Amino acid sequence: MSIRLPTACLVVLVGPSGSGKSTWAESQFRSEQVISSDRLRALVGEGPDDQRAGKDAFEVLDLVLERRLRRRLLTVVDTLGLDPARRTAYLALARQHRMPCHVVLFGTPAARCRERNRTRDRPVPARVLGDQIRAFSGAAAALPGEGFDGVHEAGPVSVVPSSMVTAAESASRQEDRPMALQFGLHVPSLTWAGEPGDIRAGLSGLAADAEAAGFSSLWVMDHMLQIPQVGREWDPMLDSYTTLGFLAAVTTTARIGALVTGVTYRNPAHLAKIIATLDVLSGGRAVCGLGAAWFEREHRVYGWDFPGRAERLDLLEDALRLLPLMWGPGSPPFEGHRVRVPEAICYPRPVQARVPILVGGQGERRTLRLVAQYADACNLFGDPDTVRHKLGVLARHCDDAGRDIGDIEVTHLSTAVCAVDRESLNVRLAAITPKGRTPEAFAESVQAGTVQDQIGRFRELAEAGVRTAIVSLPDLASGDAVVGFAPVVAAFAGAGDHHRVSRPARGGAPNVD
Ligand code: UTP
Ligand code: MG
Repeated sequence: MSIRLPTACLVVLVGPSGSGKSTWAESQFRSEQVISSDRLRALVGEGPDDQRAGKDAFEVLDLVLERRLRRRLLTVVDTLGLDPARRTAYLALARQHRMPCHVVLFGTPAARCRERNRTRDRPVPARVLGDQIRAFSGAAAALPGEGFDGVHEAGPVSVVPSSMVTAAESASRQEDRPMALQFGLHVPSLTWAGEPGDIRAGLSGLAADAEAAGFSSLWVMDHMLQIPQVGREWDPMLDSYTTLGFLAAVTTTARIGALVTGVTYRNPAHLAKIIATLDVLSGGRAVCGLGAAWFEREHRVYGWDFPGRAERLDLLEDALRLLPLMWGPGSPPFEGHRVRVPEAICYPRPVQARVPILVGGQGERRTLRLVAQYADACNLFGDPDTVRHKLGVLARHCDDAGRDIGDIEVTHLSTAVCAVDRESLNVRLAAITPKGRTPEAFAESVQAGTVQDQIGRFRELAEAGVRTAIVSLPDLASGDAVVGFAPVVAAFAGAGDHHRVSRPARGGAPNVD
């Protein structure tokens, strides 16, 4: 088993001279990731064992370390690591930057350290080495109690996104006691499809692959320009609801929706009409994703109003109240904060008795309150702790609103790059890593992992309360990203029960997850 380290972490080496620290660091990391006191002695003094340069070398080491941790860069401190006060200081610095701190121990037999030492150009005096070897025994005994996030014997390293450090154990929980999790495919970009003339075929092929892979929903963005988080503003961006109409025609089982419709873009009565149409033409598969909108620039370029946040949330609340009225019987009048509709009339009514409304955004004071009051689903993002926290907030709003949180579908949006093993994952990543990004930082940003890593990651999200994981796959240009993700979908299909927030699992058994 390799040592699994998260992308952003501090690694402190501990071992006597000659135990193999620098050799190991060189074999497992890029040179710029390793800060070595010996190399710094050579840099600020006359050579790697210039003891008179030690104080300066450690001052530089501390400075470089602080600057790297500020940028959350994976850093290996290659010193003897035998001074408990220094170890404590490294741990404190990592904590200050909210980065995990791991120790790697070099328990090389004393005889081998002595033997290697003897053959060196400038051996450490035998007495000094003897002191280090004794100090190492003390350090190895003390380390489990020093509060590090992991203490490992030296060995091969896998650097994985922070969400996948514990994925192996989580994946085996999924195998032993499977939980159900639905998957949605989010398609925020179309650059993978090629020229505009290729998009029609590309999208229908993608939709077919997604349904075949077991994705139960398909999502597109509702934007006029590509958003800066995804690409360049001249990248292709189709009108959302026209695209969803097309997807309705080329799919048979998947739910379809915009993640999420900006409430500022359309008259909300007109939006109700559009979604009712989509529901009819998809045979009852429409989902209404709705949010307060945020991308000011596209409002500006089209000459649309972009009211302040409070007003946008008022609009969102109006739409949340209006839409079910529009989809319901008769033609009742509606008067909201900002929206007035004299006759909420829309025929044909949707096929679904209630078109599910998903509210995007996890603002704790207002957005999640609107979810509790009006929505059928929320859409969260972030790690399982964040999800748990947001669901705690949502649960309090549900209490206030007299709503059972178990009736709210918890969806979660994230990116994923997935491959069967580490080698093919690296090939996939190499094809899409932008210039100037370190491989591990990019892997973190797109949540890259093997099938097993992804199963573990999604198991943890399911345990936190997620019931539908919506993923965007940034390597769609590869042509087989959806197929590559299919085993992850399959691992959550069929068996097990949905995790229920605050409610016991079916059959009354306590939910142990
Ligand atoms: P290192 O130079 O890696 O040890 O190896 P170290 O722990 O960093 O030592 P200090 O604290 O900086 O002094 C010491 C010698 O042992 C050999 C290396 O080639 C080097 O000459 N070595 C190390 C091996 O032969 N095999 C190993 O697995 C590791
Ligand atoms: Mg060394």
